[in-house]
Amino acid sequence: MKRIIVAIDGHSSCGKSTMAKRLAKEVGYVYVDTGAMYRAVALAALRAGLFDADGHLDAEALERLMDGVTINFRLDPETHLPITCLNGEDVERDIRTLEVSSRVSQVAALPFVRRALTAQQQAMGRERGIVMDGRDIATVVFPDAELKVFVTASAEVRAQRRYDELQAKGMPADYADILRNVQERDYIDSHREVAPLRQAPDALLLDNSHLTPDDQQQWLRQRFDEATQA
Ligand code: DC
Repeated sequence: MKRIIVAIDGHSSCGKSTMAKRLAKEVGYVYVDTGAMYRAVALAALRAGLFDADGHLDAEALERLMDGVTINFRLDPETHLPITCLNGEDVERDIRTLEVSSRVSQVAALPFVRRALTAQQQAMGRERGIVMDGRDIATVVFPDAELKVFVTASAEVRAQRRYDELQAKGMPADYADILRNVQERDYIDSHREVAPLRQAPDALLLDNSHLTPDDQQQWLRQRFDEATQA
């Protein structure tokens, strides 16, 4: 069976990484969460004090800092899931904070950051046998990927899922606020100048608004089987 590249792009909070992770585990491929890489750069910028009190980023200082920023993944021996490392340090928890979430889109819009991370992502896929998720994987990082999927769901469904998740964790949640945040992130991701979120012309569209996680997984596995046998 041939080893391929699976590129999964789509809107935020639509379950991309869950499906990408499950597929990679099932078929024994490497999984790469490119959002985690952008988050790690945002964390490096925060730690270096490159955001001022108004949230303005010193992009020139970040460009200088980038040479000393190495991001890689190692497997958690217990969960077998990848742990994001920044210069060798496990930052998996630190990159998921609200502070990083609210700064990362500024960092992800910078051309020199995208160039550096795109090159690292391309190197990770050199041997193929990889499932990578993000916003520009099928359009910029691997335009030659054998299987490209663009995942979406309505903003209302995604907001409801996040609301339910927060409620289940006993955390405060306001549906209207969450919906606004989902819509704002969609806008920023789709309208930035460099590598905006778009469906590649040859990507398969998966709207999972009304699919269960298992139905979605089955759909993806079938597409994978077709692509590897082609
Ligand atoms: O998927 P996520 O929420 O962890 O992504 C974090 C941020 O990085 C988000 O602002 C979108 C951006 N991103 C990107 O611009 N390109 C990618 N390939 C992956 C993520």
